[in-house]
Amino acid sequence: MSRKVILDVDTGTDDAVAIMFAALHSELDLVGVTTVTGNVPLENTTDNTLRVLDWIGRSDIPVFAGLARPIARIGFPSAKHFERDSGDDPHGSSLPIPEPRSVRQDTGAVEFLVETLRSATEQITLVPVGPLSNIATALAIDPALTDAVDEVVIMGGGHAVTNVTASAEFNIWADPEAANMVLSAGFSRLTLVPLDATYQALITRDTCARLAKSGTPAGIAASRFISRRIDAYDGTVTVSDAAPVHDVVCTAYLVQPEIITTRSLHVTVDTTSSLTIGRTVMDTRLNSTQEPNANVAFSAAPQLLTDLLLDVFTSQAK
Ligand code: BDR
Ligand code: CA
Repeated sequence: MSRKVILDVDTGTDDAVAIMFAALHSELDLVGVTTVTGNVPLENTTDNTLRVLDWIGRSDIPVFAGLARPIARIGFPSAKHFERDSGDDPHGSSLPIPEPRSVRQDTGAVEFLVETLRSATEQITLVPVGPLSNIATALAIDPALTDAVDEVVIMGGGHAVTNVTASAEFNIWADPEAANMVLSAGFSRLTLVPLDATYQALITRDTCARLAKSGTPAGIAASRFISRRIDAYDGTVTVSDAAPVHDVVCTAYLVQPEIITTRSLHVTVDTTSSLTIGRTVMDTRLNSTQEPNANVAFSAAPQLLTDLLLDVFTSQAK
């Protein structure tokens, strides 16, 4: 029986690859996608999400728009234009595929999360790969929602690797209060996939060529999205002609757990310092007395991820 999944996204290029993966993999049942402001404003993340699902023929999967801004701030922690992983923007406002034909649901993302988790008759896996504003708000309405979640798999954070500042990763930094609420909510199983892991699973331009050659909608789109990322990351990663596709590591992990290796640690987020706001403080001390609240990924296997993407995206009916 396939695993029920809700993706929470700020669709940009890597979210888009994660959405296609979850929508097309036979072992996953993507019951809904919730959108949030992050890489681009909410209107764009929602439009991009609809584009992706239409493009791969999965317009049946409902899309719900969520928060347009962080839960405890007017906007991101600093007004300055934040540096991205790379010099250029790996996303752009709109994805390079046709405009959507379908429309988002009238129900909001938070209502969808609360209603769906309250009425769930089987456990649901939550996969937030953007700022955690929607998830935190749903938990503020009903902290018991965690009971319906078998695992929450979060793309976010960084220990030795950061991007938006010298201290922080974008998803966590964009709404640090929300991140702390989710980390302390008491989920029975919380897996955190930080940049330390995602930067090890680089996807190459050669793989993009193989994806495009397949001629499938998902293969063509994945090639376009990842090629845009490779162009943006040029010169900022250890392997030339390659880029991290952060968010899809989370959905790939659902069907192939060995794609990452994790350590059980206590993780909390700095919400106060102007210098290190949004930093995931991971207690790696061997004598730590802090109760672990997350399984944190510190490595990811590039070849396993590459093979999985090629398998899922090139076999789709043309
Ligand atoms: C995260 O930020 C976004 O740019 C990506 O979509 C990913 O979720 C990486 O820091
Ligand atoms: Ca994202």
